[in-house]
Formats: sequence, structure tokens, C-alpha cells
Amino acid sequence: MELQKYEKEHMDRLRPLLPECMVLLKKNGDFPLAGPGKIALYGNGVRRTVKGGTGSGEVNSRFFETVEDGFREAGFTITSGTWLDEYDRIYEEAVRDFHEAIRRRAQEHHTHPVMEGMGAVMPEPEYDLALDAEGDTAIYVLARISGEGSDRTAKAGDIFLTESEKRAILELKERYRRFLLVLNVGGVVDLSPVLEVENILILSQLGVQTGSALADLVLGKTCPSGKLTTTWTRWEDYPGFISFGEKDDTRYEEGIYVGYRYFDSIGKKALFPFGYGLSYTEFDVRFRLLSLDKMTVTVTAEVENTGAFRGKEVVQLYVSVPAGKLDQPYQTLAAWKKTGELEQKETEKLVLTFSLMDLASYDTEQAAWILEKGDYILHLGNSSRDTKTCGVLSVPDTLVTKCVKNFLSAPDFTDWRPEKRYGHQITEDHVSRLTVDLSGLETESISYERTESTLPEAAGLDAEDLIRLNVGAFLADVGVAGIIGNSSMSVAGAAGETTQVGNIPALIMADGPAGLRLSQKYFIDENGVHSLGSTMPETMQNLLTPKECMYMENMVPKPGDDSEIREQYATAIPIGTAVAQSWNPELAEICGDIVGDEMERFGVHLWLAPALNIHRSVLCGRNYEYFSEDPLISGVFAAALTKGVQRHPGCAVTIKHFAANNQETNRYNNSSMVSERALREIYLKGFELCIREARPKALMTSYNLLNGIHTSEYRELLQDVLRCEFGFDGIVMTDWVTGSDFLSAGAKYPAPEAYKVALAGNDLFMPGSQREVVNLREALESGKISREQLMENAARICRTALELNGA
Ligand code: BGC
Repeated sequence: MELQKYEKEHMDRLRPLLPECMVLLKKNGDFPLAGPGKIALYGNGVRRTVKGGTGSGEVNSRFFETVEDGFREAGFTITSGTWLDEYDRIYEEAVRDFHEAIRRRAQEHHTHPVMEGMGAVMPEPEYDLALDAEGDTAIYVLARISGEGSDRTAKAGDIFLTESEKRAILELKERYRRFLLVLNVGGVVDLSPVLEVENILILSQLGVQTGSALADLVLGKTCPSGKLTTTWTRWEDYPGFISFGEKDDTRYEEGIYVGYRYFDSIGKKALFPFGYGLSYTEFDVRFRLLSLDKMTVTVTAEVENTGAFRGKEVVQLYVSVPAGKLDQPYQTLAAWKKTGELEQKETEKLVLTFSLMDLASYDTEQAAWILEKGDYILHLGNSSRDTKTCGVLSVPDTLVTKCVKNFLSAPDFTDWRPEKRYGHQITEDHVSRLTVDLSGLETESISYERTESTLPEAAGLDAEDLIRLNVGAFLADVGVAGIIGNSSMSVAGAAGETTQVGNIPALIMADGPAGLRLSQKYFIDENGVHSLGSTMPETMQNLLTPKECMYMENMVPKPGDDSEIREQYATAIPIGTAVAQSWNPELAEICGDIVGDEMERFGVHLWLAPALNIHRSVLCGRNYEYFSEDPLISGVFAAALTKGVQRHPGCAVTIKHFAANNQETNRYNNSSMVSERALREIYLKGFELCIREARPKALMTSYNLLNGIHTSEYRELLQDVLRCEFGFDGIVMTDWVTGSDFLSAGAKYPAPEAYKVALAGNDLFMPGSQREVVNLREALESGKISREQLMENAARICRTALELNGA
């Protein structure tokens, strides 16, 4: 296999960074190993290593290294070949049964197996195989996969370990002198039955080099330095009262108490808390100085590597905001910094800063952001539950930082709050106390008046052109192929494109977030570009009947004898959660830079990523694409990826899915019912931060509704909040095929309609079909929508299309 120079370069840039994305949960000093030797590898993730999740986030890289490949390549002798062969046989049988069951269910539900099985996770099969491979070191690689279209389940083989997994893991721990449990997962697994294992590592899903990255780490060529961005604990520890996976309405009754904000506020200990992660070495984190310059807080800390190995540490700063008019979680992440690689005994000084303004809370009664008076207690440490108080900032008066307007109708519940807030603990005797000087600070107020500049190019367009610009470019009805986002006519396998009108060029869009999703091979003829082979993910192809396979096969144009076959291999980068687990925004920027380089190479203008929805529940099937349960982490990592991509001329990102898209169950028709405070503080905050920091050029609305209104049709959300409050000045587009009737048949809420989407200032209905064109034409004729609105939307597309095409 011959890699192209750019692939090699991208892999070389990524490889040393991957250990930063892995989280070491437990260690007893048996690892790293002194050198390669005999090793017994067990578990479903050895050969069936997962490089990333399924669905639109799947990246067609040229190849990827399994754990088995990685260890072989590193010079190990794998002694467990018989176990691996036997497991393969059991697994393949289970897959056949699983597909059969999906087909049967599809028949019962009168739907297509591809829709029924979209993202469905096959629970791990049970097995009983001898664990007697030679050697004194064993590794069990436990893999889980999930994806678009389905949520995870609190069942054995998904969130829970199967009986076979528990038995094998515990037996291996006894049988071998050294044992490591490796988690090749995109989300949480309940580890409570195997906590006695002394070495546990979250490998995560790291793209192309997942296998070799693990081998590097086990051999001590690299050291783990990731920290959790989501609380990992027993299933029953997660708040049982939260509504999730409802068919019509999902009530976000937990309000702002998401993730560690919930656990810490009720004083519940998680097995592995937010921000937690070990290293091969040990660190001493020391507070040095607290200073205040108006609202800017600076904490200086010192980190010393006190152990016997090199490594990196992440220092985290949390703040307990005083409860007053508004209730508050025990603490909120305010800032963090990661050290460079420290040698033994080496010390590094870190400077952490944040603005107190960013800790303001949303007071729905006043429609304003407020910073309440009282003591703000600062906690410094290397995980959310391992901190020391390092200072107290006293705010003498309540400050209204920003006046806005409420836009959301109130849900039919009041947000949950802890009966008694877990008290602030000042763990040090003497902490610096500073008083904040509020003099001269003014309340920011937002103007909701907008004057849209229209482009001369858009002014000359006739009604039909304007309509075509408001709808993505489409050929004919592409059926199932279009559903999975493969509608571009210019770049093979890209998810879609805008319509080329007059001298306005098209914008080509391709999925992410774990790299670029494109067809690997294609050819060009007089009708355009054509993918070679199916671009449908394998998981979906397996659910087609032989007749459908043949039909799909026949639909695909065949290259002529003289056709030139071209290639577009993209690099699979780590999944979103893994990138964030590095707590290193520079790493994310490098990932963005790699994607941007490949976008330039293949002619893609908009990457349909990063995805920054919040890990609200561990059950969400797409959590692996998202960064964290914390909005600050989400916003910072989205901004870093954005900067990396947008550094490339002609390339930009599409942040998604705006907003409160936190489950896959009935995703086209489900309404997230949420209070305005929780929406703004938890679910919108990361988007705002990314927009302010990195100016992403596009944004995708979500499938879900928000308190009964489709986000794609929500004018107040898109105009008032997104554009006026957050200052977003790019393109807004819908998620794919949101308007299809068959997806909302029998649903409580009707599907979005093109003219309502356009009226909301959502510029682009994707991927586009004749149905939306007709809808807009009729709406224009009957006066339901004005030419001015279509022109305003079209102007934004024209501006971005001209800019990214270098015109
Ligand atoms: C997903 C989006 C994706 C789009 C295009 C949708 O099904 O929700 O995240 O970008 O397809 O493939």
C-alpha cells in the first residue's frame, strides 16, 4: 500500500499527539513495558478496533491500524491467535442474527431496514473461550461503537459489560502477571464490575493510527496525558430522573445541572470525575499567585514532575459562584492550562486567566446576564474533585453584565435544583482574598435592529435564481443515498453543495468531524464526477436486499475504458471526544489544519463540523462526535478546530447542530423542552464562544425542535440570538433532508417547510430537492415570503461562495 506524501505527513503529525487524547484511569506501575515480547491480546477491539463512530461522521481513510496491526508492527509476538479466530467466528454469526432482527423489525414498522437500523448498535455477543495464551502480559481491548440515528442502551454489551466480558477481564487479571484493560470506546461504559483491575486505559477512537498509538504507549515511547471531559461512573449514579429518548418531547428538567455540575452539587462521588486522568508519572501542582485586573482574573501555578517518567499535566481552575437570586452549581470550570512534556524533576510555571464576566448567569426574570454579589471561591487542581482553594474574589454588588430579550416560551416544568447545595469547601487556612472593583463597568445592551447589506450580485438575480440559491443543488431524487449525505455533484462523496447561479460559484460541503468524508475513488465523465463503488457506509449496505444492492450498483455510472480513476483519501483524525480529552487546544488546531489541507486538495469549501452538542446523557448515540458535558470545553475546542481549518484559503467550517441536539431517538421530530436559562448557559454557550473566538463561516441548525418550534424555522433563535447577540455573520443551513414527510409520518410535529425556514433567516435548505423549490415558489407567489427575505438569505450565500472560491 503506497501512501501519498500528504497522508504520510498528516499521520506523522498526528502520531505523537495521540497519547494526549487517551485517559489513564488506573495504574499500578506495571506499565509501560520494558520492550516488546510475547503478549496475549484479547477482546473485541483487538481485530475489530473502532477508529470512530458510524453515520455521517464515518471517514473513508485509505486504511487504519487495528490494535493487532499496531502490536505486530511494534515487534510483539501475539500469542492469542486462537482466541481471536474463535471470537471472529462468534462475532460474524451474531452480526447475521442482528441484521435479520433489524429486517424483521423494519417489516413490522413498515420502514426500510436502513432507516430501522441506522446507527443501531449490535450488543456484544456472549462467548466462552479459553484464556490460556502464552506469556505473562495480557491486554483486553474492549470496544464499543455507536452512531447517527440511534441512541445507546443501558444494556449488556453497550453501556454495561457482558457476562463474558466481566468473566474474562477478572480472570485475566488473576491469570497474568501484568494485565491492562483498554477501552476502545467513544463514550462511557459502566466499569463497576471490574474496578479491581489495576490498570485501565481509555484508548478512545483515534482514527488511522489507533492501534499503533496504543503500542507506542504500552512500550513507554509515549505517555498518556488526557483527562475526562465527561463524568465516568456507574450507570445508577447518573441522574435517573432525567427524561431521555422520549418520542415527542424530551424535558430537560435537570436545567443547568448537567454532568459534574450535578454530581458536585449534591456531593455525589463519581468513579472517575470530570477532569480526571493519570499519567505514568506523578505531578505536584502548586498555587503561586492570584491577581485581578478589573474583571480579568489571573492565577499562576507551578507544576513539578515528581515521578520517575516524563509526562504532561493539565491544571484546572474551577469557581464556586455564590448563589443569590439564582441557584448555582457547586463549581464551574473557568480556565485550564496544559504543561509541555516535563522530564523528571522539571518544573513549569503556568498562567491561567479568565474574565469574571464569563461567569455571569442568565436571569430569565430580568432577561439579563447577571454577576451576583458575594464570594467567588477559586479551586485549583488536576481534576474537578482534586482541587485546593486558591483564592476568594469578593464582588461587592450585583452587576448586570448584559441585557438581552427572552425568546423561548417557558416549558411546562421548573428546573430541578438540589434541595441543599453541597457547601463550598475552603480547604486551605490562608487564601488570598481580593475585592473586585466594579467602578466604570457598564451593562452591555444588544441592538436587535439589523441592516442587511445585499450584494450587487444578488440584486440582479431573478426570483427563480433566488429560490435556487435558498435550496441546495440537487439532481434527481437520490433516495437513500441522499439521506446519508452524499449529494454533491462536484466532489465525489461530499455531502452536498449550493446551487451555481450566474457567476455565483457553488460551495461544496463534506462531512466530519473525524476527518473528511469523501469517496475514496472516482472518475469524471461529461455528466460530472462519479464515485466508484458504493459510498454508503458498510453498516448500511449490509441491510440492503440483494435486489437493492444490484439496483444501487446499476445506478452508479461505470467508468469507460479510457476513464481516469482518481483518488481522494482522507486522514481519519481522533473523534471529537478524544480531541477534547487532550485538553490541548493546539492539538485541535493541528487536527483542523490537517483537515483544511485535505479540503484544499479535494476542492471542499465547507467542512460540516465541528459538532459541539453537549454530552447531556451518556446514552446519546452521537456523543463521540461531540466534545464534552461542559460548554467551555466545547466552545474552546470548536474554536481551535475552526482556526485550524479556516487558516486555509477557501476553507471554512460549519458548526453544528444548533441547538440542544442531544439525542438520536426520533431525531427529526423530537422537541427538546428546556428553560431559557439552561439553554443559554449550557447548550448555546459553546456556540457563542466559538463564534466570538474564531468566526466560523457557517452553522447548521439541528433536526430537533426547541420548545415546540423547529430550530431551522426559529427566527428569534437565528436572527436575535445567533446573529444579533452572538455576532454570527456567516451562512445558516438546515441539517439534511429535514423536510421529508416520510421521516415525520405519524409524528406530533409537522416537518419543517422551506418557506418557513427561509423566513427564519435560515439561508439554505439542504441538501435540496424539487419539493423545496416548489414550496418557495408558491410561498413567493402567495405573498407568504417576500423577495427581500429570499434576497437577504441569497446574499449571504453569494458572499461566502465568492469569498471561499477566491472570486
Ligand atoms: C447529520 C449531519 C450531517 C448531514 C450530512 C445528517 O444526517 O445529522 O451531522 O452533516 O447528515 O451528511
